[in-house]
Amino acid sequence: MNREVIVCLRELFVNSRLRMMLDFTQHGDTSCLEHTLAVVFCSLAIARFLRIRVSKRELIRGGILHDYFLYDWHDGKKERRIHGFTHPSMALMNAEEDFYLSRRERDIIKKHMFPLTAKPPKYKEAWIICLADKICACIEAFRKEPYPEIKKMIKRQECYAQG
Ligand SMILES: [Fe+2]
Ligand SMILES: [Fe+2]
Repeated sequence: MNREVIVCLRELFVNSRLRMMLDFTQHGDTSCLEHTLAVVFCSLAIARFLRIRVSKRELIRGGILHDYFLYDWHDGKKERRIHGFTHPSMALMNAEEDFYLSRRERDIIKKHMFPLTAKPPKYKEAWIICLADKICACIEAFRKEPYPEIKKMIKRQECYAQG
């Protein structure tokens, strides 16, 4: 398990609503938190494979928070029909309430749904998360019980902060 991911996760758990992401489903039987961790690991693998120099900490933090919209988007409410377009702004608003974000982290969250969002990502970290998010969405749609290692990691509570 990537030590830097655990460190960022522990920091982000403190005085925040990150725990809520365990209760909300992203796709299939994958929770929002499992999804965001899968996106982080996928984006780190992409950066490593393509030998792209990235700000690892911002990539990890932005990746964990990219879907910090904090509601169940399967709840049938009328406004959920445009969830794909609106949730990046909601995630950014929530994340800014709970954390101090860098420009790169803001860009990652706000643009991760490009081309559904009007503006393309500005930073390479945001492009990588944008791509990793789409790869993970496909995995979650087509694979039964994806990410056993991430599920185990969360079960073992390795990532929980004391607070
Ligand atoms: Fe998203
Ligand atoms: Fe996502």
